[in-house]
Amino acid sequence: MKKRVAILISGRGSNMEALIKAAQNDDYPAKIVLVISNKDSATGLEIAEKYGINTKIVLRKNFTSDLDFDDHLSNILSQLQVDIICTAGYMKILTKKFVGEWMNKIINIHPSLLPSYKGLNTHRRALQDGASITGCTTHIVSAELDSGPIIMQESVLIEKDDDEDTLAEKVLKLEHRIFPESLQKIASGKLIIKDNIVLEN
Ligand code: GRF
Repeated sequence: MKKRVAILISGRGSNMEALIKAAQNDDYPAKIVLVISNKDSATGLEIAEKYGINTKIVLRKNFTSDLDFDDHLSNILSQLQVDIICTAGYMKILTKKFVGEWMNKIINIHPSLLPSYKGLNTHRRALQDGASITGCTTHIVSAELDSGPIIMQESVLIEKDDDEDTLAEKVLKLEHRIFPESLQKIASGKLIIKDNIVLEN
């Protein structure tokens, strides 16, 4: 049985598209059942619709608190019997309660080699530091931002003439590879999470 996956986005949705494309394969162990955006301007919504995926826009301004907002998300996801949530450029911090309810079931992609450069502007900060290597990380979401058990990482050399844009482009290519691969490993049960560590099953 394929795992039922929802993707949370806020913008461009290129990682979301990589997941949707991977899931088109009959052998892929996950099916994308819903894309939720917290921004009505997210271009990813049109992309999802192009692939025939159901979409929903949930705006924070229609809720009195982050807790209410996340409770609403949680209800939508439970009703759809979602097994795994992928956050793909979802620019809103999940409440502790939500993360607790979906413990070990949320996968995030981050454009740095975690634990280095948590948070925003990862490429700018790596360049400013004169780092020689950067990359991306997929990880299970825990209550603390950009933390949680690491699933996969892929790295790339930072070259002399790299700027924020060229670096973002290089890293994004890697993101599009490791996110679908990570979801495959988790959805198939090849990797499991035990005692806060990702293990081969
Ligand atoms: C990606 O670089 C992702 O790692 C970060 O935000 C960006 C989202 O891009 N969290 P996209 O919306 O997937 O194109």
